[in-house]
Amino acid sequence: VHTPRVFSGIQPSGNLTLGNYLGAIKRFVEMQNSGIETLYCMVDLHAITVWRKPEDLRRATREVAAGFIASGLDPAKSILFNQSQVPEHAQLAWIFNCVARMGWLNRMTQFKDKAGKNRENASVGLFAYPNLMAADILIYHATHVPVGEDQKQHLELTRDIATKFNNDFGVDFFPITEPVIEGAATRVMSLRDGSKKMSKSDPSDMSRINMTDDADAIAKKIRKAKTDPDALPSEAAGLADRPEARNLVNIYAALSEQSVDAVLAEVGGKAFSEFKPMLADLAVAKLSPIAAEMARLMEDTAEIDRILGEGATRAQAIAAPILEQTYDIVGM
Ligand code: ADP
Ligand code: NA
Repeated sequence: VHTPRVFSGIQPSGNLTLGNYLGAIKRFVEMQNSGIETLYCMVDLHAITVWRKPEDLRRATREVAAGFIASGLDPAKSILFNQSQVPEHAQLAWIFNCVARMGWLNRMTQFKDKAGKNRENASVGLFAYPNLMAADILIYHATHVPVGEDQKQHLELTRDIATKFNNDFGVDFFPITEPVIEGAATRVMSLRDGSKKMSKSDPSDMSRINMTDDADAIAKKIRKAKTDPDALPSEAAGLADRPEARNLVNIYAALSEQSVDAVLAEVGGKAFSEFKPMLADLAVAKLSPIAAEMARLMEDTAEIDRILGEGATRAQAIAAPILEQTYDIVGM
């Protein structure tokens, strides 16, 4: 029986978005207060599966940490750290490279999406990425991982690796980690295309609200967000075939911590010309204080590095004995 422990990672690969905030950071901060041990990791080893400028990577790593802290993460409660500073992740990933099967990784849809037609030229790291993700989770014997839809297949692979390792060596060592799936209301879609998730890797800046956007940028992006000509319905069922409208209502509900039905009871019948400014005001009210605090933290990078260094020490205190036991099981 494994003690409950939550692990999650965010790639330091560009601007944090409203999607990262509502779907990840805000939920992670809430979990830190649940009494369960929580580890949150800037996964820089994942970020370099595609080439990045070193200075961009360094900055993004600190900015994600700043985003967590500015959103209320308490580094004394949660363990906040940088993946590359705990080498046990990469060490366990090698063991898992030898446990996972080529066929398993060949079935990963995210690799197919990301590598596209250029498969021969994708990095080996991009292909093996799910094994490193399994190591990120299992090096802490994490029992629960909050994941988005797009990561469900990778978590399934993590469970397969844990099961095969346990079977191959006749042990009951790695836990079979459970997903904590985000609710529909916390899945934020692109402002330009209601069928795609809002992402920091989307080439169009108008498709996303960045956590560091100022009030004018937020208002402009919401004003220009794609919608349809109809007024808002008074019940959630009325949003069924209206992905863009549903997305804006979901964002409003998540930011105001109300159900979609409660929001629609308030705004049903309004035109988007009336609802969009309400949403913009709400987004600015929630995000501006966080953006200001992120900017303040980013002025003192030494302090961020100190917090991440302390987090890495605490993370390693859990990871090192688990790696040692793994080596022992394997015969090393
Ligand atoms: P991105 O896709 O922006 O690069 P990551 O893959 O690094 O983000 O995901 C970091 C975390 O943020 C994950 O927990 C993921 O589920 C969450 N997340 C990312 N985008 C969204 C979104 N549009 N809506 C909800 N959650 C999201
Ligand atoms: Na992603």
